[in-house]
Formats: sequence, structure tokens, C-alpha cells
Amino acid sequence: MWLGVDIGTGGSRALVVNAEGRIVAGITAAHDEIIMQQPLWAEQNPENWWDASSLAINGALKEAGIAPAEVKGIGLSGQMHGLTLLDAEDRVIRPALIWCDQRSQPQVDWVNAKLGRQRVLDYIANPVLTGFTLPKLLWVRDHEPALFERVRKVLLPKDYVRFRLTGDYATEVSDASGTALFNVVERRWSTEMVSALGLDAAILPRVYESPEITGTLSEQAAAATGLQAGIPVVGGGGDQAASAVGNGVVEPGFVSCTLGTSGVVFAHMEQVAYDPSGRVHTFCHAVPGKWHVMGVTQGAGLSLQWFRRELAPGVEYGELMEEAAEAPAGSQGLYWLPYLMGERTPHLDAGARGGWMGLTARHQRADLIRALVEGVCYSQRDCLDIIEELGVGVESVRASGGGAKSPFWRQVLADILGKKTVTLETQEGSAYGAALLAMAGTGAFASVPEACRAVVREVSSIQPERENIEVYRAGHRTYQALYPALRAAGLW
Ligand code: XUL
Repeated sequence: MWLGVDIGTGGSRALVVNAEGRIVAGITAAHDEIIMQQPLWAEQNPENWWDASSLAINGALKEAGIAPAEVKGIGLSGQMHGLTLLDAEDRVIRPALIWCDQRSQPQVDWVNAKLGRQRVLDYIANPVLTGFTLPKLLWVRDHEPALFERVRKVLLPKDYVRFRLTGDYATEVSDASGTALFNVVERRWSTEMVSALGLDAAILPRVYESPEITGTLSEQAAAATGLQAGIPVVGGGGDQAASAVGNGVVEPGFVSCTLGTSGVVFAHMEQVAYDPSGRVHTFCHAVPGKWHVMGVTQGAGLSLQWFRRELAPGVEYGELMEEAAEAPAGSQGLYWLPYLMGERTPHLDAGARGGWMGLTARHQRADLIRALVEGVCYSQRDCLDIIEELGVGVESVRASGGGAKSPFWRQVLADILGKKTVTLETQEGSAYGAALLAMAGTGAFASVPEACRAVVREVSSIQPERENIEVYRAGHRTYQALYPALRAAGLW
């Protein structure tokens, strides 16, 4: 048996997986509400991650009904980019600034002014974004110098849980890629970036490839989790890379599209390539020696959640999808811009605003919903286009997340992306990927791709409908023209 533990935003999930890759048990323990003391701020207490993950592990072991000695390895995954600071006594110095915290624009500007955008790209293959770890650390330096003085280690969320499990300061390449301090091309800390910014490289943990063993479970952690001391813990992955492993996106030609609150298009890359204007993220993959590229729609499922909350309270999501399916493709010329929380790819614009464009008195609620689904898929198409521009071949798209549960949404996705869209038997995402990394790292499989080939199974597939492809090709052109026009109009 192997354990995959995902330290998400809303909660921590522990999954028990057997030697055939089948899920035996899975338990989630919720985290406290995100602390939002000011607009743009988002913090969580790392102690809360540890409490929730040990609770989830205890629960999953009980549900599986297995003895602690049966667990042969643990893999970790987690929300990326968060800043956990430890002092000389390994105490957490302040609550962690998490991935969606957006307070650090002045620090991003400072880095760009000091180094120049091109040097940043040369060092880390990505631009520095407010969501990434480095500008958060610089915010603490600028606003809480007394706390910054005490910093001895900087850890990502899952790596704080690792520290509590094994006592090691360690991370792995996929999560390290999202810190803005990592040389993604050479898979090592960018000591150039660190020293150019006057930081101390000793605050960074040791970095491993994702299936490598980073340490073993301590006696203390064994007591807290119900496990046995000495179990190997592997590097694991950032949630997106781990989820890609769970979806089998570990070889050329594979792309996944995860329609959760946000929407992520994720592609495997054999050779590293990055967008010169940084519109998509190029990070190390959880597969040794490979990379991935991903684009993010901020308001994917969020668009529908918002619609339901404000305009269709009490109506089930399934009913909303049935209603949308009654409207014609293209929603009679109605467009939805899903920028409810700004937009990442391709605009990198935290201030962008969303809405419908093209309303007439003839439109019905069905058109509003269909346009909303189409708008989210157009934004995903924006991501996919940039990924293909980088030379990544795309044969089919593996759809997962809440949005992909709807056959209607999957069909619109296939039509707008112009790709075959498939679904998988296991929809467990990150925690499952973490367990597979543990299996590959402890010898149950020879490699990560081998693990995926053995256990990831496609269960259904949808081809794009020929008659919709042209409607949506034209629709995408109009959609793409709306953002620059509205920005030029001074809407935000
Ligand atoms: C990835 C990202 C999210 C977070 C939270 O860049 O910001 O996936 O990891 O899930």
C-alpha cells in the first residue's frame, strides 16, 4: 500500500492506493477559512496543514483497514507558491502567504527594475508574478524586517508537512519551479537570482527530483499519523504536476484540461521551451528530466458558481447544463469574458473585468449559461494556442474537474479546442499522482510513465462536432478582440 497526501487550499486529502494502483480509501480533513485581513491578502497557518494532513492520514488508514506496517511509501503534493518561514528553532515565524495572495506587485516591480525582465527570464524561464513565492518573501523583507531577520528556512506548503513528517528541509523540482528562485532549465536553485537580489541561499531547502526519496518518517510523526517510523517519503509534486501524473500526462502528445474553480491547461514537454512574453508557465515536470507548460483561466468553474449564486439560486449544476444545451452553438452572438478574478493566461492582468457582451432582448437564460461555458472554453483555447505555438504536439485532451463531469461542457470543450476530449477512470488528481510518485520512487514501478501506463485508464471520449468547429473558430476571433477593446475603453 502507498499513501498520497495532497495539501490543498480547502483541505488536506490522504489516499491509500494498492499495488495495482486502485484506490482503497480516501479521507479529506478541512482547513480553516483562508485569512483575508485586507483585500488581495490570503494567508493560512502551516500548523493547520499539519493537523489536517495527520488527521486525514489517520482516517484513511482506518477506512482502508490496514496495518501501519503495510504502507511502503508516501508521496506529497500541494498548493504551490506559498511562503512558509521557519526560524532557527524551526518555529513558524508568521502565517503563510498562499498562492492567491496578490499583495506583492511593488516587489515584482522592484525585481524587474533591478534585474530587467530579460535577465529574469534567462534565470528562471518565467516572469516573476505576484502569485509566486519570491515577491512574497520580499514583501516580508520590506514590511516586517524584524520577522525577516529571523528567517532560516523558506518552505512550500507540502514541504512544511514533509518537514513535520521527516524532519528534513527538502523540496522537489516541480514545486520549486513556482518560487521564481529556480533555474527551471537546469533544474537547480538559481544562485544567480538569489545573489543578485541579496538573499541568502542557505534559506532554501535541498531540491530533489519528484520520485526521489527525501527522508523517512520520524518516531514523532509516526505517533501523530498512526503510521510506522522509517517509511520513505518521496519528493512528490506541486498540485498541478502531481495531478498531471494522476491523469497520465507524462509523455509527449498528452494534455490535460482541469475545469475546477480555475481552469488549467497542462502539457508535457520533452525539451524545455518557454514563451518569451511569459504568458504561460514553464515548470519542471514531476517526471525526472522532463518539463511541463501550463496556462490558467482564473474564473472557470468560478463563472458558473457565480452565475448560480446570483442568478439561479437553488438550481442544480446539472439542470443549468441541460438548459444551456438548448441554446445554439455560439449562443446567438453572445460572449462571456470569464475575468471575474482578473486573468492569468494570456493577459497576466489581475485587474481585468468580466461580463457578457452582445446581449439582445431575444436572448434567454439558456444563452447566458451557454455563453458562459463557451467563454471559459475560449479562454482555455487561448492557453492551448500558446502551448501549441511553443511546438508542443497535442493529440487529445484529458478533461477532469467539476466542469468536465458535464458531457455538455466536455462537448463544447472538444468543439472549441478542436481536439478529441477524453475522461479517465480515476478522477482523484493530485493525491493520486502523489501516490503514483511514491510507487515509482520506492520501486513498485520502474518509472513514473510506467506507473501511469499501468494504472491510468481512459473511459470515454468525445470528438469535436464538425458543424460547430467553424462557428467557434469565428467566435474565438471575436472573443479575443473583446479584451483589448474593453481595456482600451478604460473599463479597469
Ligand atoms: C498553480 C496554482 C494553483 C495552486 C493552487 O500555479 O497557482 O494550482 O497551486 O491550487
